[in-house]
Amino acid sequence: MTHERMLITGGAGFIGSHVLETALAEGWTVASLDDLSTGSRANLPAGVPFYEVDIRDGPAVQAAVADFRPTVISHQAAQASVSLSVREPVLDAEVNIIGGLNVLMAAQANGVERMVFASTGGAIYGEVPEGAADEHTVEWPYSPYATSKLSFEKYLETFRQQHGLEFVVLRYANVYGPRQNPHGEAGVVAIFAERLLSGQALQINARLETGDEGCLRDYVYVGDVARANVAAARGTLPRLLNVGTATETSTERLAHLLADALDVNPTLTVAPPRSGDLRRSVLDAALFRQVLGEPLSLAEGLQRTAQWARHQSAR
Ligand SMILES: NC(=O)c1ccc[n+]([C@@H]2O[C@H](COP(=O)([O-])OP(=O)(O)OC[C@H]3O[C@@H](n4cnc5c(N)ncnc54)[C@H](O)[C@@H]3O)[C@@H](O)[C@H]2O)c1
Repeated sequence: MTHERMLITGGAGFIGSHVLETALAEGWTVASLDDLSTGSRANLPAGVPFYEVDIRDGPAVQAAVADFRPTVISHQAAQASVSLSVREPVLDAEVNIIGGLNVLMAAQANGVERMVFASTGGAIYGEVPEGAADEHTVEWPYSPYATSKLSFEKYLETFRQQHGLEFVVLRYANVYGPRQNPHGEAGVVAIFAERLLSGQALQINARLETGDEGCLRDYVYVGDVARANVAAARGTLPRLLNVGTATETSTERLAHLLADALDVNPTLTVAPPRSGDLRRSVLDAALFRQVLGEPLSLAEGLQRTAQWARHQSAR
């Protein structure tokens, strides 16, 4: 068992809270830093130190890092909405680039050994017309969100060269699982689960004339994302890793799989594709399999998510 210290920014959010839980279970001493803008205190286990800080506030980030003195920072806090980034690119850059730099500078000033960064394979590679994007695929960031994430990846390399601060970039596919917030505009599994459990129809955005079944996405279970973060924190992963499954699933198929897992009959409606949505995004998972083993299957992950969602709706 290790006795190292991990600070999780965004630790009150969906993915961050799973990283925190997994790290705790593996013997890490953990703390969470979050401004609760989309996260919730309810996601934090009792007794875990919590710094209510906006990462745009440099001195407050410095103070929290100096107080906790982590050996590793898992940086999950972000402006995570693609469409908001299109409407407000300055806000996106303030949180994802300037806020990220505040975290990085506090890490460097306080002797942190390694940063683990929640990047995005789903947005950074742009449209993946066929096959799967691997870690060598040239990035094609066509939203401000993807650009801010890619910029921060570059800053990590700069800080490694200048200050010897190690890092691991994890490029997540579409993450789903318990505790995902259904009230955002992304997170189709959480949104569909809530609608299915309250008897509402599910909307598939598809080009009817071509007979398609909606966007094609690579869905990865949050438990796999959490264990990738903890392995990265331990220093056993390469500097760049896709966190996906290499399996594509259409929105319509996802709706049926989730309805099966919840044991309800879905009503589907069709609307035109949303402008700006990628048609297809799939991540190569060969490196993930090599270093972390098999990711959870979508059917099993949806079962676990459905069980949680059912429990939530019964409360
Ligand atoms: N969910 C996905 O499919 C997905 C895919 C690729 C990458 N990511 C990345 O994973 C990370 C976690 O995303 P998530 O899905 O758990 O979203 P989330 O909204 O649940 O988590 C983000 C957390 O960061 C916090 N936060 C936001 N702005 C902050 C600020 N200025 N200061 C401090 N805390 C702030 C929020 O309160 C929240 O707790 C993000 O960096 C996101 O970009 C997510």
